[in-house]
Amino acid sequence: MEDKILEVRNLKKYFNTPKGTLHAVDGVSFSIGAGKTLGVVGESGCGKSTTGRVILRLLEATDGEIIFEGKNIREFDKDQMVKLREEMQIIFQDPFASLNPRMTVSEIIAEPLIIHKKCKNKAELNSRVKQLMETVGLTERLVNTYPHELDGGRRQRIGIARALALNPKFIVCDEPVSALDVSIQAQVLNLMKDLQDELGLTYMFITHDLSVVKHFADEIAVMYLGELVEKAPSKDLFKNPVHPYTKALLSSIPVPSLKYKMNRIKLEGEITSPINPAPGCRFEKRCVYAKDICRKESPVLKEISPGHSYSCHLAKEIKAENEKN
Ligand SMILES: Nc1ncnc2c1ncn2[C@@H]1O[C@H](COP(=O)(O)OP(=O)(O)OP(=O)(O)O)[C@@H](O)[C@H]1O
Ligand code: SF4
Ligand SMILES: [Mg+2]
Repeated sequence: MEDKILEVRNLKKYFNTPKGTLHAVDGVSFSIGAGKTLGVVGESGCGKSTTGRVILRLLEATDGEIIFEGKNIREFDKDQMVKLREEMQIIFQDPFASLNPRMTVSEIIAEPLIIHKKCKNKAELNSRVKQLMETVGLTERLVNTYPHELDGGRRQRIGIARALALNPKFIVCDEPVSALDVSIQAQVLNLMKDLQDELGLTYMFITHDLSVVKHFADEIAVMYLGELVEKAPSKDLFKNPVHPYTKALLSSIPVPSLKYKMNRIKLEGEITSPINPAPGCRFEKRCVYAKDICRKESPVLKEISPGHSYSCHLAKEIKAENEKN
């Protein structure tokens, strides 16, 4: 069996708001194999970042289990969490906002090494910073520059170097290339892929853009309003999307390899509120396949073929329709 590094079970994160309880993450379960990439996709506000932050315990979960290397890290105390921080890191979308503008490149990369007391002296620290800069393709002459003096691609390389400083095993990458020009996106993605191969990293790669993870992720999880609605190996998801929401997402990007013709599905209709959501399928108001049962019963995620799960009452019919086309 595949060696899982992370497993989340029935993970929930609710926020109390003046209007009621906001179900940002609502019973999400998945696992990620060591050295693999899970792409997490879905539109703005569906709970991708919250899922990532809750897994890293930057936010406390409302319920559920987070099993990292066999241990439920929700039970970890402060000391155990300090140690765990070395293993689990995050790369943010906007390197400019996440990097301290008053610190130089070398200071930013050195900071986690200093906090976690990883180097015995200044010389060792400088040498490790230099090594990390080389790893992410930043030339040494940039050590004393400030983030605002660099372009987006270089800034994101600083964010990656900083995330790598403590030799983590698992990195939540929260829209790491969304703020970059397309040409630079490819360079940063290639760098991340090379680093994964070299260092055996496991990624949870969050993006609203399915085309970014198509070749990058081993598996893809699609989220809609706090729930996981479909999960499959990347190839399967692109070849045979079953959940109507996944189909709509895929139909909006050009995918020449699709074995059947897919007409553009426009996402219309009211978006269900994540505050005190009613029973029934949360996609129902926008779904072209919706039937009575969808308004009454919430579909549950089921594994239908190895590694391919989806939560939709009409999954069988939609699958049969895919096969006909
Ligand atoms: N601290 C908070 N307090 C209240 N609600 C929050 C908080 N953080 C997030 N939310 C809400 O939780 C839901 C999920 O937000 P989240 O940021 O996880 O979405 P996302 O999928 O990452 O979106 P985006 O693609 O825009 O980054 C949204 O409805 C958001 O408004
Ligand atoms: S359960 Fe019903 S409303 Fe929800 S996605 Fe499936 S067909 Fe559409
Ligand atoms: Mg987000």
